Order: sequence, then structure tokens, then C-alpha cells
Amino acid sequence: MAKKTVADIPDKELKGKKVFVRCDFNVPLDDKQNITSDKRIRAAMPTIEYLIKCGARLILASHLGRPKGEVKKELSLVPVQKKLAELLGKPVAMAPDCVGPEVKKLVDGLKDGDVLLLENLRFHKTETKNNPEFAKELASLAEIYVSDAFGTVHRAHASTEGIAHHLPAYAGFLIEKELKFLGGALTDPKKPFVAIIGGAKISGKLEVLKSLVNKVDSLIIGGGMAYTFFKAQGVAVGKSLVEDDLIDDAKAILKAAKEKNVPFLLPIDHVIADKFAEDANSKATSDTAIPDGWLGVDIGPGSVKKFSEAINGAKTIVWNGPMGVFEMPKFAAGTLGIAKAVADATSKGAVSIIGGGDSASAVKKAGLADKMSHISTGGGASLEFLEGKVLPGIAVLQDK
Ligand code: 3PG
Repeated sequence: MAKKTVADIPDKELKGKKVFVRCDFNVPLDDKQNITSDKRIRAAMPTIEYLIKCGARLILASHLGRPKGEVKKELSLVPVQKKLAELLGKPVAMAPDCVGPEVKKLVDGLKDGDVLLLENLRFHKTETKNNPEFAKELASLAEIYVSDAFGTVHRAHASTEGIAHHLPAYAGFLIEKELKFLGGALTDPKKPFVAIIGGAKISGKLEVLKSLVNKVDSLIIGGGMAYTFFKAQGVAVGKSLVEDDLIDDAKAILKAAKEKNVPFLLPIDHVIADKFAEDANSKATSDTAIPDGWLGVDIGPGSVKKFSEAINGAKTIVWNGPMGVFEMPKFAAGTLGIAKAVADATSKGAVSIIGGGDSASAVKKAGLADKMSHISTGGGASLEFLEGKVLPGIAVLQDK
């Protein structure tokens, strides 16, 4: 069901209104609190700029990290305030907290088009507990609630779920865009629909694999999780990462793919190393077996070629998880090769949707971020969405 967005609120109803905008400003910081990627802040700009233009009084709120209810100076949103002011080209006021009399006073002092950023919501443990009183207190600051925090909509927290029971609740443009791409892939994908799933482990991706096997035309598997699938088929995996407790699940997924006639593409060769380190001895294998004493760290060149052929014919591509240990340049070729194949298919008209987190970093590293149709701002959220789960922070927004 499509959700009402900020654009569904008549302009005159926004003018002078206090709007609580839940964003996901959970950005990576270095040890000096410098923001190392402002992607999530930029992604919220269309909604923020639109509301400013309409003369709303903006109260922006987010979490940063997992301070577990304690005030942690290093997790203050002040670096985000600075970045927002720079991107907007106007002052952004910083509140010392997210609730309380001082915050109320700052909110009451807002003029049309002003922007106030609240301090980290998770400095209160009531936030993650979705405490009803805390949710009510947050809601009391505003007249309208807008969620643009796609990366956090899988969490039923006070600022993502509870608050929406007290205010008219709308989606921001980022949520609208994420739902258009991710929702489109699930409900009405252009065929062939190819999913590429990688990353170190099957655990965490089990549900998405079970869900996608019912929807895709082929499934490509790379990364550490491939070795559990190999072991499940009796192929030698050397000392590669294997989740022995998930062998039966791996077998069940292989069986489901077979029954549905969904090609299940595993690597046909690997890059192997004698230890998990950049200075390891490494070589490519000529087939799927990995000798004793070695571990798989990337897909091999034959696999890149085979996977690229499957990607080449796709019209919808969902990619989540790298093909190897791409953070070590020596073992990044497989992931970068797949990024190139996805970019090439996109240039020929495929819709490509890249999950957040590692896959987004890989695409950026390959210099191909602007060649993809959509790079999700949600890691866990995009996975849970693809699993077909109802996400609490979306369910609570008004339907169109
Ligand atoms: C994320 O980075 O995935 C979101 O901001 C959610 O953060 P969380 O996993 O700490 O809830």
C-alpha cells in the first residue's frame, strides 16, 4: 500500500507548522568525530528543503550509534548539525537534548523555515524501548510527523513508531523513493529478475534467501556464505568460513531453488589465501574445490565471467553483500567485477537496486555509484524489506 507523503499535505497546511522529521543521520564518524560519509544526510535533503520551502518549522531528529541510554559526547549529533548547515546554506540550531523544557523553548522560538536539530534520541533508553510516555513527549513538540529515516524503519522505537500514534504521519521523499525501488522489485519486477547475495555469512540473510527464491529468475551467491552452500553439497572448502549449524538450511534453500527451477549460481572458481590477511599467500583455483589449509577470500575470474553473463540479461537486479573480502584490495576483484557487470546492465536498461552497507561501499569503491538505479540508505532495513516483513516505521504511516 502506497503511503501518503509530505507532498500530499496541502502547502498552506505546512506553513507555520511544527514538523517533526525523523531522519537517519546515523553516519560513520572517524575518531575525531568527522563524518566520513554524508550520504545519509544528503539523502534526507529533498524532504528537508521541501519543508523549508513550504514555510514549515522543522524539528529534525535522529539516533547516532548505540549509546544505550547514556549521554556519550562522541555520539553527539553536533557534526551532523554542522554538515546540515553547510548543505542547506543556512543556520541549523542545535538542541541540547531531544525532550524537556529547554527543547520546548527552542521549538517555540522557531520561525517559518527555521531548522532545529535535536540531540541523539538514543541518549534516552526510552527511545529504543518505544516507551509510550517518551513517544508522547516527542510528539508534543510538533503538529505533523514525517519519517524519512528509511535506515531505521525496521526498528519499532519511540521516534519511528510510537510517535506516529499521536500525530498525522507522512513519509518523506527518501522513504517514498526506497519503497518505489525496493517495493517495485518485490511486487512488480521487470523480468528476468536476478538477485546477487553475498557477504560473509548466511545467518542474517537466511530469510531474504528464502523469500527471494520465490521471486527471482536466478540467484547468484558469492562471498563467505558460498562455502556453507559448498559444504552442504560435499565440496571441499579447506579452512574457509563455514556455518556448520546452517548446513541444513543451506540444503533446504538449494532444494527450494531446484524445485522452482531457479538457477542457483555458486562460484565456479575462487581466490584462496593461506590466512585471512592482506599479506597472505594467495592464488586462484581452477574449480570449486578448495584444498586443505586454504580459505576462500574472493570469487575467481571464471565466476566473475559466469555471473556477469547472468547479470547481463537481467532487467531487475537486487544486490546485497560483497563477493569476497573486498576491503582488502588484493581480494576485491570479484566484487568490483560484479559492480561493473551491474553497472553495464543498468546502462542497458536494467533497474539495479543496491542494498545499503557493504554493497553500497563496494559500488562506491568501484566508482560506479552514479551508474546504479538506486543505492538503498538502509542496510538492515532493506534486507528486512526484501524478506517481505512489515516494517513498523512504515506500517505506522498513513496510507494513500
Ligand atoms: C543502520 O545504520 O542500519 C540504522 O541507522 C539502524 O541502526 P541500528 O542498527 O543501531 O538500529
